[in-house]
Amino acid sequence: MADWVTGKVTNIEFWTDTLFSLTVHAPVHPFTAGQFTKLGLEIDGERVQRAYSYVNAPGNPELEFYLVTVPDGKLSPRLAALKPGDEVQVVSEAAGFFVLEEVPACDNLWMLATGTALGPYLSILQEGRDLDRFNNLVLVHAVRYAADLSYLPLMRELEQRYGGKLLIQTVVSRESVAGSLTGRVPALIDSGALESAVGLTMTAENSHVMLCGNPQMVRDTQQLLKETRQMTKHLRRRPGHMTAEHYW
Ligand SMILES: Cc1cc2nc3c(=O)[nH]c(=O)nc-3n(C[C@H](O)[C@H](O)[C@H](O)COP(=O)(O)OP(=O)(O)OC[C@H]3O[C@@H](n4cnc5c(N)ncnc54)[C@H](O)[C@@H]3O)c2cc1C
Ligand SMILES: NC(=O)c1ccc[n+]([C@@H]2O[C@H](COP(=O)([O-])OP(=O)(O)OC[C@H]3O[C@@H](n4cnc5c(N)ncnc54)[C@H](OP(=O)(O)O)[C@@H]3O)[C@@H](O)[C@H]2O)c1
Repeated sequence: MADWVTGKVTNIEFWTDTLFSLTVHAPVHPFTAGQFTKLGLEIDGERVQRAYSYVNAPGNPELEFYLVTVPDGKLSPRLAALKPGDEVQVVSEAAGFFVLEEVPACDNLWMLATGTALGPYLSILQEGRDLDRFNNLVLVHAVRYAADLSYLPLMRELEQRYGGKLLIQTVVSRESVAGSLTGRVPALIDSGALESAVGLTMTAENSHVMLCGNPQMVRDTQQLLKETRQMTKHLRRRPGHMTAEHYW
């Protein structure tokens, strides 16, 4: 049984009509960067709960979540309507294996996200632990429109902080904008456009690929990497090159 605690919303910031970040104070147990918890609200007499990844680094008491309002969604529109001071239920014990401990050492660590699934990487990178095992870090944020790149300023700050070790690349699928690749992640890998934009290669010999977010993106990319780059899913009992988390 999950152990629920009562949290208090301290801030809600809207980046677009549908994308927002929720900051909560709650007496949760320590978590590992990359993990998620559950948020819950009482709706029509019953608790509706969903999984959300921590964006903040472990140890930071400002618990931050990055969300999209799913049209007709059961919980996300209700979370979007919260105001500072409102209560939200939080599961105190975080969960999930989308953490660096599960990723073997390599030259190039690719962190691929669609939409709100940028969160786990921001937590990992803000904490900055256990990254000496990689020579290069590449953070790729893929969204529909440039306006959905909510955390670009933080991504740029992190790029500075890592002094050349961290490369960031944005991908926009529904418009063409300077500085971003246009299209979808699997096609941009297949054509070589992502690697040339970043200046690094993605091979089974030199890379590990983390994938998070839209399950179709995750599946399509894994399939492509399997077929064209001989990459395999990473399992504890059989080390491979890909680690993934599906958001639905
Ligand atoms: C491990 C894990 C971590 C997650 N972390 C986050 C997070 O940090 N931020 C976040 O916004 N969501 C996250 N989700 C998704 C979240 O749990 C809910 O599914 C989402 O908020 C929709 O809930 P809902 O009740 O409003 O919609 P529902 O009525 O449950 O509708 C679900 C449908 O909404 C769509 N959908 C769900 N999540 C997303 C999303 N993130 N982006 C685009 N479309 C989506 C899909 O089409 C899905 O079938 C995570 C899910 C998992 C499994
Ligand atoms: N983002 C918005 O402006 C917006 C506005 C209103 C409502 N919403 C709602 O919010 C929810 C989530 O939207 P979202 O934009 O955050 O998430 P999303 O639909 O998962 O899209 C995020 C990115 O993933 C890409 N993608 C989708 N399938 C893929 C695949 N198989 N392979 C590779 N890439 C793939 C999308 O490309 P494509 O563009 O090619 O699909 C887009 O660039 C949806 O329910 C949507 O209706 C979003």
